[in-house]
Amino acid sequence: MLFRIVLVVRVLSSLAIAASQELNFNFTYSGFRSTNLSLDGLAELTSNGLLRLTNETKQRTGHAFYPNPVTFKNSINSTALTFSTTFVFAIIPEYATLGSHGIAFVIAPTRGLPGALPSQYLGLFNETNNGNQTNHVVAVELDTIYSSEFNDINDNHVGIDINGLESGRSASAGY
Ligand SMILES: *[C@@H]1O[C@H](CO)[C@@H](O)[C@H](O)[C@H]1NC(C)=O
Ligand SMILES: *[C@@H]1O[C@H](CO)[C@@H](O)[C@H](O)[C@H]1NC(C)=O
Ligand SMILES: *[C@@H]1O[C@H](CO)[C@@H](O)[C@H](O)[C@H]1NC(C)=O
Ligand SMILES: *[C@@H]1O[C@H](CO)[C@@H](O)[C@H](O)[C@H]1NC(C)=O
Ligand SMILES: *[C@@H]1O[C@H](CO)[C@@H](O)[C@H](O)[C@H]1NC(C)=O
Ligand SMILES: *[C@@H]1O[C@H](CO)[C@@H](O)[C@H](O)[C@H]1NC(C)=O
Repeated sequence: MLFRIVLVVRVLSSLAIAASQELNFNFTYSGFRSTNLSLDGLAELTSNGLLRLTNETKQRTGHAFYPNPVTFKNSINSTALTFSTTFVFAIIPEYATLGSHGIAFVIAPTRGLPGALPSQYLGLFNETNNGNQTNHVVAVELDTIYSSEFNDINDNHVGIDINGLESGRSASAGY
């Protein structure tokens, strides 16, 4: 997740994964104070329990990872499980009329994305591993800048990114 000049605060988030009753897994955070999220970069918890991923320092990233592995495949028949997630967030750009890159919900094989760059790379990839199928990374980007190099549709969109920043599917943000 991340950006340039952006302050992001997630106040509540939840994840639910379901296929059959045995595989039902979910969690909800109503504030982050007593959670064990794995933070890196500029990410920190504020004194009132918000998760802030970046601050006013430019060209930096921050990540917050759920600390434990989460199973996304049925171990018996390898079917991918469905999941849903909800979170409340704010992206605060330096200039109200300009975006400041964005934030992404990410599923990664490791607790961290070493080498990931800020700005148009959204804290997910870099110029050498972008698009590489060995990344095994799936992300939903909330991107507030138009990056022609990744064929973005506009400067305010939601995109599904599989192993790279060129979204397989994207749609204009509803807000
Ligand atoms: C969360 O998982 C528990 C069992 O692990 C289940 O009892 C509960 O109904 C689940 N809640 C949701 C919202 O899926
Ligand atoms: C966080 O980690 C500590 C030490 O591993 C553990 O005692 C505590 O129960 C964990 N808290 C949560 C909410 O998982
Ligand atoms: C952002 O956070 C970093 C790391 O905590 C800190 O060094 C830096 O001074 C902060 N930047 C601003 C503008 O507060
Ligand atoms: C895999 O197993 C789950 C339940 O464990 C079942 O719901 C699903 O239909 C199965 N998928 C296939 C392709 O057999
Ligand atoms: C890009 O990220 C990969 C994977 O983390 C890392 O091995 C590589 O060194 C990074 N490349 C650059 C140019 O930072
Ligand atoms: C993708 O990454 C793997 C492992 O890091 C590397 O061996 C391979 O050369 C990369 N592929 C491309 C097309 O860069």
